[in-house]
Amino acid sequence: MRILLTGGCGFIGSAVVRYLIEQTSHDVLNVDCMTYAGSAENVASVSENARYRHALVNIIDAKALKPLFESYQPEAVMHLAAESHVDRSIDGPGAFVQTNVTGTYTLLEVARGYWNKLSSERQKKFRFQHISTDEVFGHLDENDPPFTEKTPYDPRSPYSATKAASDHLVRAWYSTYGLPCLVTNTTNNYGPFHFPEKLIPLMIIKALRGEELPVYGQGKNIRDWLYVEDHAEALVRAVERGKPGDTYAIGARQPHDNLEVVKKICAILDELRPDEAGPRERLIRFVSDRPGHDFRYEIDPSHAEEALEWKATHDLDTGLRKTIQWYLNHSAWWQPILEHRYKGHRLGGGS
Ligand code: NAD
Ligand code: TYD
Repeated sequence: MRILLTGGCGFIGSAVVRYLIEQTSHDVLNVDCMTYAGSAENVASVSENARYRHALVNIIDAKALKPLFESYQPEAVMHLAAESHVDRSIDGPGAFVQTNVTGTYTLLEVARGYWNKLSSERQKKFRFQHISTDEVFGHLDENDPPFTEKTPYDPRSPYSATKAASDHLVRAWYSTYGLPCLVTNTTNNYGPFHFPEKLIPLMIIKALRGEELPVYGQGKNIRDWLYVEDHAEALVRAVERGKPGDTYAIGARQPHDNLEVVKKICAILDELRPDEAGPRERLIRFVSDRPGHDFRYEIDPSHAEEALEWKATHDLDTGLRKTIQWYLNHSAWWQPILEHRYKGHRLGGGS
């Protein structure tokens, strides 16, 4: 299958690109305009492969997208390009509206124009897969059941509000125009190539450097952690086997509070790279909370597991160990990011 994939130089997108090239026979055209979050190094291991191409194009640019569709003749779109960091969305929501809402609208319209001209046989087989988040469902209290595909939308941050808007657009293009769309909503990912502004890579790097570890509030907020390579496999199953009009809530059944996660990171690092100054838990600091901080996310992935014949293979301990080992071996990837690519954004919030 020829897959036009957006956002393939980012964290999850690059894991999907590597999976597609290394573990399937699909071809990939990676449409990524390289914001601060994108890096050519994330796909360096496959960039010389004849089945891989990159187009430096912004998804809000319909004039640039149209010829890409015409010349590449994709059989599927996997749409991952987005602004993805909640703290940045609080500081500057405009870029989120632009890429997540206008960008998704533009991509849908260009895909629809292209799809309209396909033979009916190719139209039936075509897929537009939209990759989204569980944050569109709002947040849960301690005893609420986990999110499912049927949970009503209740986004609470500028990031999740723009992702919710994009999910609604995609479903409307399915119902109104018949474009064969499907949506996946996934829990927090972690793993190699994760940009170090998100909790897990930030804590690994700060702990390695002996810096304070800023935990928002009391560290009681709960996230359901999915190892990125498990997610990549689920997304490829969904584009291959998913049903148009359907939604897949993807998760790993690994809910943990933030303090527990940070303590696990400290313990694994202490074992793999002992610190002469003592156990790294000493670096934990409780800092002022994120405004509107969602308390708990958790997904019940039963439908996705059954329909896609997929299950996450990493629990948090095995995934964290692999992730920490990767950051220990790849300081050449993250050092330059610390020096050049934050573009002035604060690291690790709080005060
Ligand atoms: P990321 O921020 O690491 O990467 C985003 C990529 O998209 C970057 O390579 C960037 O250059 C590219 N991009 C951004 N704006 C673009 C534009 N206008 N045109 C073209 N390319 C553009 O994001 P991620 O964490 O890999 O997330 C990928 C997708 O998965 C997003 O849609 C996100 O909402 C969703 N998601 C992420 C998580 C998570 O835990 N990270 C969880 C669930 C869903
Ligand atoms: P994050 O990785 O930003 O993902 P999301 O907000 O999309 O869930 O944050 C994960 C959790 O970690 C969230 O509850 C906020 C918290 N957090 C901290 O406590 N300290 C930090 O420095 C960061 C970046 C996040």
